[in-house]
Amino acid sequence: MQQKLLDIQKVTVPALGLGTYKLTGKEGAREIQRALLLGYRHIDTAEMYGNEGDVGNAIKASGINRNDIFITTKVWPSNFSKNKFIPCVEESLRKLQIDTIDLLLLHWPADSDTNKLAADLLNECVHKKYAKLVGVSNFSLAQLKLVQKMAPVCCNQVEYSPYNNNKQLLQYMQQQGLMLTAYSPLARGEVLKEAIIKKLAEKHQRSGAQIVLRWLLEQNNVAAIPKAGSEKHSLQNLQVFDFELSENDMQQVFALAR
Ligand SMILES: NC(=O)c1ccc[n+]([C@@H]2O[C@H](COP(=O)([O-])OP(=O)(O)OC[C@H]3O[C@@H](n4cnc5c(N)ncnc54)[C@H](OP(=O)(O)O)[C@@H]3O)[C@@H](O)[C@H]2O)c1
Repeated sequence: MQQKLLDIQKVTVPALGLGTYKLTGKEGAREIQRALLLGYRHIDTAEMYGNEGDVGNAIKASGINRNDIFITTKVWPSNFSKNKFIPCVEESLRKLQIDTIDLLLLHWPADSDTNKLAADLLNECVHKKYAKLVGVSNFSLAQLKLVQKMAPVCCNQVEYSPYNNNKQLLQYMQQQGLMLTAYSPLARGEVLKEAIIKKLAEKHQRSGAQIVLRWLLEQNNVAAIPKAGSEKHSLQNLQVFDFELSENDMQQVFALAR
């Protein structure tokens, strides 16, 4: 299967990943393992999802070389302190059964001073080789600019879908060579009910989800991490690299912004 690959700070990142929020326990691990076997090579998890152990088990059971999979996890703000941050990352490494996290994110912003402290702790994780790349999630443009002064952040994972596309943030990130990872890219399924998505799906003989994911992946520096629990959805979401949207199609999807 073809994938779009992003080059972020000289690291190759598959642009389409699997979101794993709510994929927990043995069943969650089975679904993640199935996605890996279907071809996913980018997995998004977080300490807060309570499933890093399940992700680790799924990777191991898949038999796929760990180095062929890009793994993102996140630290929750309650652990943004000198004595909690590093042990929390060590726990993530232990649960994921890996030595280095490909991308470690601050899950949500805190106040400015705490964000600066957490950015410094991200540096320590890079220094200890606990993380290859570091970044943030849910940070505003101003908050992102502040932490950029403190650490080599390469990513901001934000809610980004046809309903919710933050042009100003994306333009800045594109100029800086940063990756915008779109979470809830399908607006949790809601956007698939839109008439224009249905019309474009018919035009391209694709599903609505494929239209929305293609719209995201045609934007520079954008990665997307849809969550799919079923095999049908998992597979469908991967099959978005063999067709293109026209400029006019793209603009019609942009027009859904609220
Ligand atoms: N950083 C953050 O603060 C943050 C916040 C929220 C989410 N996230 C990440 O982003 C990931 C995705 O976000 P999300 O789960 O909120 O929303 P989403 O990916 O926009 O939507 C998931 C929903 O869409 C359905 N779906 C998936 N593929 C489909 C398809 N091909 N056709 C029809 N329906 C389809 C899924 O159903 P099935 O499960 O039945 O397939 C599920 O109900 C999360 O898992 C998490 O990793 C991060």
